[in-house]
Amino acid sequence: MCGIVGYTGRNSCVEILVDGLRRLEYRGYDSAGVAIQTGDDIVVRKARGKIVRLTDLIAKEPVSGTCGVGHTRWATHGRPSDENAHPHRAGRVAVIHNGIIENHRTLKERMLARGRAFCSETDTEVIAHLLDEYVSAGLTLEEAVRKAVAELRGSYAFLAVTDREPGTLVGARMNCPMVVGLGEGEFFLASDLTAFLSHTRDVLFLDDGEMVVATPAGVRITDFAGKARERSPQRIDWSPAMAEKGGYRHFMLKEIHEQPRAILDTLAGRMRPESGEVFFETLPLSLEQITSLKKVTLVACGTSWHAALVGKFMIEGLARIPVEVDLGSEYRYRDPVVEEGTLCVAISQSGETADTLAGMREAKAKGAISVSICNVVSSTIARESDGVVYTHAGPEIGVASTKAFITQLVALYLMALHLGRERRILTRREISLHLIDLSELPRKIEEFLKREPEVASIARIHKDARDFLYLGRGISYPIALEGALKLKEISYIHAEGYPAGEMKHGPIALIDERMPVLVLCAKGESYEKTLSNLEEAHARGGQVIAVATEGDTILREKVKDVIYIPSCGRYARPILEVVPMQLLAYHMAVLKGTDIDQPRNLAKSVTVE
Ligand code: AGP
Repeated sequence: MCGIVGYTGRNSCVEILVDGLRRLEYRGYDSAGVAIQTGDDIVVRKARGKIVRLTDLIAKEPVSGTCGVGHTRWATHGRPSDENAHPHRAGRVAVIHNGIIENHRTLKERMLARGRAFCSETDTEVIAHLLDEYVSAGLTLEEAVRKAVAELRGSYAFLAVTDREPGTLVGARMNCPMVVGLGEGEFFLASDLTAFLSHTRDVLFLDDGEMVVATPAGVRITDFAGKARERSPQRIDWSPAMAEKGGYRHFMLKEIHEQPRAILDTLAGRMRPESGEVFFETLPLSLEQITSLKKVTLVACGTSWHAALVGKFMIEGLARIPVEVDLGSEYRYRDPVVEEGTLCVAISQSGETADTLAGMREAKAKGAISVSICNVVSSTIARESDGVVYTHAGPEIGVASTKAFITQLVALYLMALHLGRERRILTRREISLHLIDLSELPRKIEEFLKREPEVASIARIHKDARDFLYLGRGISYPIALEGALKLKEISYIHAEGYPAGEMKHGPIALIDERMPVLVLCAKGESYEKTLSNLEEAHARGGQVIAVATEGDTILREKVKDVIYIPSCGRYARPILEVVPMQLLAYHMAVLKGTDIDQPRNLAKSVTVE
């Protein structure tokens, strides 16, 4: 998730663009750049790192103009570097882009065959070359963009300028946000209105499949076929801070609601449900190595460790490889036995967690092949691993991990299917069914999020609880752990996640009428067993909250507070079950008035031991 901004008008645009980028920095902050039309040329200034590096560069090499674009990057394809920073210039055109061009490899091969030279590792640069081909062939920039969008696959919001049309900005949107700010003889285009809210509150929102052409004379919106689209301006009354959170009170809530998008982006270009195919381009494993794998060791900390526990069920169940799950802080000092044929998978949102990094280094030093699952491109763990699978959750600002966790589960599910396929454990048909289940998750989560008020009302009932017990069996047990961790992290209520089957061996002693007990009891392989555990907790007076599958009337009869989630397959279930956990913790914390995005004593990335 990058930040894009464009301006055309009568004012000098450099400061306007840079100020816009500062306000968009929460979307991505590993490199930034601008492209400014100056007379009959385009001048690009871009640099790796925070916006300040860009402003230093512009101070050293000033540039001015009244039309231009700016970008702040969250790397997905190509590590953070000056070359990979946007804007990307190709001949007469410069482009900035937010999103993922899924067919960038095919397009790039075609252009390379036509003798074009690429300067970056990004997917975006293909757009610049595509547009330059058409503009150089005499098309207007608008016509060029219209031809290009017919060839692009994936998600994008991009803006383009050309040295041939001073003052003209052209943009296109598909699955990524774009909004137009309306001024007097000046217009702003951006990925969200945070970028220009200090200049205007009158905006037009673009829909998927739409283009915008802006000049100081005005703005036109059309569909991709060129048909005009009328749009009435909306007046925005948000504060810039609210805009950064997209109108949500906290980044955490915004990130919970971004999960459908995060899953779509993480699945993008990696699967073909109809043919039962999974594509994992960055796994450093030959077929021979995959078939001779003896063990998979998953190493992680905190919430990522909970993802690893779910990953064990997925990889053992779908690829039939023994899996060991270890906490980084323990594994690094345990002198673990690492046999030949061991794959170590380090899971980390930030890619900088010291204990996970040390754990992976330990396994590598003992001969394991290392793969990392990371959300931050080119982070240390990603760079040091032999191969990396990036989760495309976008920047996660809230300290309590939500969307990154869900995309880790999606990446582990895809990895298990890939290993299962390569080891001839799974048929294409079986994989196809799993991929269909996965691809339905964004819609199901979107559906479930509409039930947020129900979860908020359950939070109100338990807001004064001093302790909280979370129970789950099998693949839901790690989600019970995650639910408890979320509550601890942001509401400071003592909470414990426990395997439901273990309850009789101790924690049942904790249960009385003051103890809320959340039981993950969705339909599946351990439903009956979990139901009896729920009844045991109920019988001791526990305030039971059940998470159940839609249509399950049995639980409605037994328990007053039931949170219903859509039905789905076994390995997709934890991905759905965690959403009510996140919302419950969030609403409990809102009632407690804690600092939800930056809870006390915690850091987003623990880079020390
Ligand atoms: C989760 O909400 C916490 N922020 C924390 O437990 C986190 O998961 C842990 O520090 C690991 O971080 P990583 O995924 O960036 O390695």
